[in-house]
Amino acid sequence: MAPSQNEKPVDSADQKVIIFDTTLRDGEQSPGASMNLEEKLEIARALELLGVDVIEAGFPIASPGDFAAVQAVAKASKRARICGLARSLTKDIDAAAKAVAPAGERGRVHVFLATSAIHRQFKLNKAKDQIVKQAREAVAYARSLCADIEFSPEDASRTEPEFLAEVVQAVIEAGARTVNIPDTVGYAYPDDFAHLIDYLNAHVPNIRDAVISVHCHNDLGLAVANSLAAVRAGARQVECTINGLGERAGNCALEEVVMAMRVRKDQFGHLFTDINAEHLYRTSRLVQSVTGLPLQRNKAVVGDNAFAHESGIHQHGVIKNPETYEIMTPQSVGVPTNNMVLGKHSGRAALVGRMQGLGFEMNDEQVDRFFDAFKELADRKKEIYDGDLIALYEAVVRGRTLSQWRMVYLQSSAGTSAVATATVTLEKDGEHITDAATGHGPVDAVINCIDRICGVESKVEDYRLRAVSHGRDAQGEVSLRVRFLGDKGGKSAIGGKGLSTDIIEASASAYLDAVNRLAFEQERIDYRS
Ligand code: KIV
Ligand code: ZN
Repeated sequence: MAPSQNEKPVDSADQKVIIFDTTLRDGEQSPGASMNLEEKLEIARALELLGVDVIEAGFPIASPGDFAAVQAVAKASKRARICGLARSLTKDIDAAAKAVAPAGERGRVHVFLATSAIHRQFKLNKAKDQIVKQAREAVAYARSLCADIEFSPEDASRTEPEFLAEVVQAVIEAGARTVNIPDTVGYAYPDDFAHLIDYLNAHVPNIRDAVISVHCHNDLGLAVANSLAAVRAGARQVECTINGLGERAGNCALEEVVMAMRVRKDQFGHLFTDINAEHLYRTSRLVQSVTGLPLQRNKAVVGDNAFAHESGIHQHGVIKNPETYEIMTPQSVGVPTNNMVLGKHSGRAALVGRMQGLGFEMNDEQVDRFFDAFKELADRKKEIYDGDLIALYEAVVRGRTLSQWRMVYLQSSAGTSAVATATVTLEKDGEHITDAATGHGPVDAVINCIDRICGVESKVEDYRLRAVSHGRDAQGEVSLRVRFLGDKGGKSAIGGKGLSTDIIEASASAYLDAVNRLAFEQERIDYRS
């Protein structure tokens, strides 16, 4: 391990790097990634299986829905610490402490306040001494409600190091057990960021009373590199998200930081994490499915191409010895490698066995539903691949659970010289409503029609269609991001996802999914204000 100027003496507790997952909080701030309570619970369960140490479950003051979700995660959790975010305000801290209370001793309140000159001047309009006072008082207050307090000086990497050290010293005195150093805007550079950790170790007299954490954003694609550099310099908590989800370009990707430490042990001495890496792929899939945000194929560790060898030279080498071109095995991160194809003659037992192999357990009722959907799909599609099965499971068993409106009927027509038209019937509270509309193509016509029925207006900011498996009859998965306009519009764009062998139907389902999420989004406040 590279020597750090101010290395602490190493005992076994010092060798563990705490993995703090913020998929449910910072990750959820990705445009269009909002999740409902059930979805947050499902991800929290998966994170516990994955072995993360801390789950930041949300920002409880943001809305009653966020509060309820953090509280529900705290109640359901078994092992991980459950954390709620709070600005340095009494009302935020009260809400966060109350929301994490069901986790008992495992509850954590994460208080933050911006410290950089630009934030002090333009966002907070506060002088340095006012910032120190507010941070100290907020932490002391939080500590009166909860034993485990983390403090973040927001925009730390752009804060004057001397002032940062002063704030860090003050919050540790006030009772913070963890001091998190965020690179809020993804501006840091690995060497500089490591030096900042060294600087704090050298200039904050009480630094040994707290764990140093880092929280890196990926605006320059350096979030993982910065986090690893900080770990080598003495940070012992890394804040990260599954798939690197998060504001703007995202956060440090959990799967990458964990596998970098594992594969390049030589760089990290005896440092370790408690992550069960063979759950990484499955957790990544789950987060993609819940958020409706698919990954690029070449995403490190969990992307579809991460272990695909196209060129003959590579294939030849890998067959002879996988280590020629593979630095880690697909199995080590839980990528399913059995590509046996199922079809309409496959039986229930074969299907259940295949799903178990992919890591999906179902109860009898779920198997019934899944098997019916599988048979329907097999009628439309000859060969069913793992990708189809996972997508079908996500649509049929897990479902996207906010469904005020349900699609009953859809018909669309379009052509090179015809006006695209769509007729849709939706159901809400037992009532069926039918309408028709035209558009600049069948997808536009269907969306116009749904808008008329639901009384909404929108701008589709992003639309993606991908085949979940191979062949011309592959199922199309549509992921879109919608900004609703007018009185009913929420504060941010909303994501939606739909699946079908008919891409117009998949588009309609994805759009309806976003409409169903709108009500949930409307009540949120923006914590950065
Ligand atoms: O990026 C950031 O600074 C944050 C803080 C709230 C930790 O997300
Ligand atoms: Zn952040």
